[in-house]
Amino acid sequence: MAIFGGGFLKVQKEEVDPGKVQGTDLRVLKYPNPKLRTGNEEVLVFDDKIKVLANEMLLVMYAANGIGLAAPQVGINKKIMVFNEKGSQSKKETEMVLINPSIVDRSSEIDMLEEGCLSFPQIHGQVRRHVWVKVQYSDVQGKATECVLEGLPARIFQHEFDHLDKVLFIDRMEAKDREVNQKRLDKYVKKFGAGGLP
Ligand code: CO
Repeated sequence: MAIFGGGFLKVQKEEVDPGKVQGTDLRVLKYPNPKLRTGNEEVLVFDDKIKVLANEMLLVMYAANGIGLAAPQVGINKKIMVFNEKGSQSKKETEMVLINPSIVDRSSEIDMLEEGCLSFPQIHGQVRRHVWVKVQYSDVQGKATECVLEGLPARIFQHEFDHLDKVLFIDRMEAKDREVNQKRLDKYVKKFGAGGLP
């Protein structure tokens, strides 16, 4: 995920397709790759493979100038997301790995912000999200955790949570923004085939 909001949020560096990233063979899949619309399995075994995968997802996310990434975006249909609201490898304190996440409560208050997604080059649009969400997940060791996310982390979580539920940000984009982007989306479908369409 990427953010382009103004206001109190700093505009993020433009996301890039990093191609092959040092330290991993994972690559960011682009819309309409069918893996983006495939169901994602719960993680049952918290072994070293999961830790390696989470670390490699973070490598890809940082290389792409992203602030969030979901496993299906790198072709792994499992319920894993990583994010860092600061978008910087040097800011480890804000790095999050969430496995098998769920939303247990949410604000009625909604806000709107311009989002991007690493699987949708050059596509941006306004999306409504809950201002805060109370979430449960397992950390990379398998330890159950509950916390309230607010503001940008809440937005990133909801974007990535959608990925794990086969929902893409274009499904939630404001109609006028979706319209502006439709030609480019059609071009991607033409280029890559229609396999990922809803
Ligand atoms: Co995304």
